[in-house]
Amino acid sequence: MFITHLSLTNFRNFGRLELDLPLGTTLLHGNNAQGKTNLLEAIYYLATSRSPYADYDSHLLNWDAAQAPEPVVVGRLIIQLTTQSGDHHVEMRLIQEKNRNGRNGQHSFRRQALVNRRKVRLIELLGNLRVVLFLPQDIQLITGPPSGRRRYMDITLCQIDPIYCRTLSNYNKALEQRNALLRQLADGQGSLEVLSIFTDKIVDLGSQLLARRAEFLENIAREAQRIHYEELTQGQETIRLSYRPRLRHMGSSRSEKMQELDELGKWVQVNYKDHKAIAARLMQALTEIQPIDINRGTTSVGPHRDDWLITINGRNLGSFGSRGQQRSAVLALKLAEINWMESVTGEKPILLLDEVVAEFDERRRTLLLNYVLKSTQALLTATDPGMFTADFMAQVTSMTVENGRVRPDH
Ligand SMILES: Nc1ncnc2c1ncn2[C@@H]1O[C@H](COP(=O)(O)OP(=O)(O)OP(=O)(O)O)[C@@H](O)[C@H]1O
Ligand SMILES: [Mg+2]
Repeated sequence: MFITHLSLTNFRNFGRLELDLPLGTTLLHGNNAQGKTNLLEAIYYLATSRSPYADYDSHLLNWDAAQAPEPVVVGRLIIQLTTQSGDHHVEMRLIQEKNRNGRNGQHSFRRQALVNRRKVRLIELLGNLRVVLFLPQDIQLITGPPSGRRRYMDITLCQIDPIYCRTLSNYNKALEQRNALLRQLADGQGSLEVLSIFTDKIVDLGSQLLARRAEFLENIAREAQRIHYEELTQGQETIRLSYRPRLRHMGSSRSEKMQELDELGKWVQVNYKDHKAIAARLMQALTEIQPIDINRGTTSVGPHRDDWLITINGRNLGSFGSRGQQRSAVLALKLAEINWMESVTGEKPILLLDEVVAEFDERRRTLLLNYVLKSTQALLTATDPGMFTADFMAQVTSMTVENGRVRPDH
């Protein structure tokens, strides 16, 4: 798939942008704070409905426009793209409205998604445009907290599997309701019968998530391990990516916990097609922990507590790897994501690379840029185009980004 046109209105520092995009690789270069990252963010946002940076979607609206006295301010992101199934039009509107009774600048904010000019639920936006994003902070997938690794799995899976995404959203709603009820029970209110209805829901939806994640991690692990071994370290080092599903209340000591999680992960990865067995385990875990969960007012087992990790020679790369080893592993993972998406959908995803090329040494840079040049469409940003070889520059379209405007160089 590839984008033919991007149109932005009141998005970040783009008051108005109309940009035709060519096939192949486009290099967006320019000084700091001109809009390079914002442009990639817009494309990523249309693919995933999430920003990798903004805490609130309302922050994406252009500041000046948001402060204008108009009762309604609309930001618009539109992509025209060509896929195997034809030409598509994907749009997101960011709508800020002055509350009727509100004084002193009280606003409400909402989003509206459109596919082929028809209003759709936000969740239906996903999967129309598929991207793989590379950021310097991707290394946090290895060194950061589990929530980032869960988000990575969820966003990646949602791009190709709408059923997973719907299940996830229903799971999160059921979890919120169950936790509210657990808090009531802690206060001596609420009913255990209703709790068991929510527990059934959590088991049904949660076991579907667990199975899908196990399958995803199994596939991506195999490909990441191959890329790392064959293409990145020339047979020097082997990484292993493994699932740590929270399917049991954990023992108290740290080493016991690691071992139990490791065993559970292996079990799920072997048994992911057996929904009944996974559901039975989750039910058992929730039942065992129920008295403690009522005390705490929260659900302490289930896929919302899942994690995964990468090991090298059996040791957690997040704790024991050198910075370079961590970078290589993340690169292998991201490159695996490209191949995985292509094998599942039959189409190459669009690659977005924000300032990452400068981070890598010669060998890793060459490998990454090979993937870029082989892709149907890739957009990369750099402050200094001088770091690319003349050979690479000869194969790309370069554009200058300056103060919210984009200008092709020739
Ligand atoms: N909601 C917004 N409205 C208007 N401008 C914004 C908004 N959010 C961010 N900006 C501004 O957009 C400008 C461009 O940001 P961006 O991150 O795209 O820069 P960049 O070209 O990637 O720079 P760098 O090379 O430093 O990464 C920044 O000055 C930023 O403050
Ligand atoms: Mg930037």
